[in-house]
Amino acid sequence: MSGSVTTPAAPKGPAPRPIILDCDPGHDDALAMLLALVRPEVRLLAVTTVGGNADLRRTTRNALAVLTLAGRTDVPVAMGAPGPLVRPLRVADWVHGESGLDGADLPEPAAAPVSEGAVALMARLIGESPTPVTLVPTGPLTNVALLLRAHPELRPRIARICLMGGSMGEGNATASAEFNIWVDPEAAAEVFDCGLPVAMMGLDVTHQARVTVAESDAWATLGTRTGRVFADLFRFFARFHRDRYGWDGSPIHDAVAVAHVLDLGLVCTEPYRVDVETTSELTRGRTVVDIRGLLGRPPNVDVGVSIDRERFLGLVRDALAAFP
Ligand code: RIB
Ligand code: CA
Repeated sequence: MSGSVTTPAAPKGPAPRPIILDCDPGHDDALAMLLALVRPEVRLLAVTTVGGNADLRRTTRNALAVLTLAGRTDVPVAMGAPGPLVRPLRVADWVHGESGLDGADLPEPAAAPVSEGAVALMARLIGESPTPVTLVPTGPLTNVALLLRAHPELRPRIARICLMGGSMGEGNATASAEFNIWVDPEAAAEVFDCGLPVAMMGLDVTHQARVTVAESDAWATLGTRTGRVFADLFRFFARFHRDRYGWDGSPIHDAVAVAHVLDLGLVCTEPYRVDVETTSELTRGRTVVDIRGLLGRPPNVDVGVSIDRERFLGLVRDALAAFP
């Protein structure tokens, strides 16, 4: 993909925070990638992929296609776990389509995944980084759990885990569980209990970050291929949310996790104790958020509770406009 990528001038403030995006593209993952690529507050070290919205082959292909569209195939992509730690993979083709990123004319990937697996690449980059790395998982947490198991020595070099997943209220994969946690509850339980700083951007806050169809259609007026492709992607994505919720448009779930890492004050969080249900089939993947502290256990997660929607959507639009 030719064409220079204009990015905002680097802020005068602190050096960009190194981040790794672990994802399952996915329409909202794809937009999270663009935000992570273009914002000066962060430096995207790598994209790692996991089975989730679609199988690993498809989520990896989709990640490579988005980087090709953005003209950023310099960013390494490493394939991670094809499925959960102990359960069979369940995909979300009813939301994202058979490819995992249906609805638009995406370019053929102009790059291939690196030979390292996701855990090996994450471990190497975290070990090499001069400053602690922030992990931004926006799919099932299998890769992150495997990384923490295999490399306990790297824990001091992980600044924070800012994930999209979970819910204080209703679920979306089941009545009680959000998809990313529902797919691999065991991995999520290990991550929430890891003792590192964890921020959870759950449905309570991501459902506030909805883009209307008119607003996403307007991306096509940016005059760029990226704008047109994402307008098409989100018109497809809107179908599920119209049919399921009666909404006009879709939540850009995963971009909220990136937006929070930018530290621009877009997302408000509260510290709560969060535990993950792994036993019951009825409530598997439920994030039990102890809002009142009834368990008497100290908070382990900063839970997203509100977002400045207008500023968030402005950030997203500016990110789209930065690509050809
Ligand atoms: O529940 C929403 C989450 O599940 C998002 O990350 C979406 O991409 C899917 O992975
Ligand atoms: Ca996702």
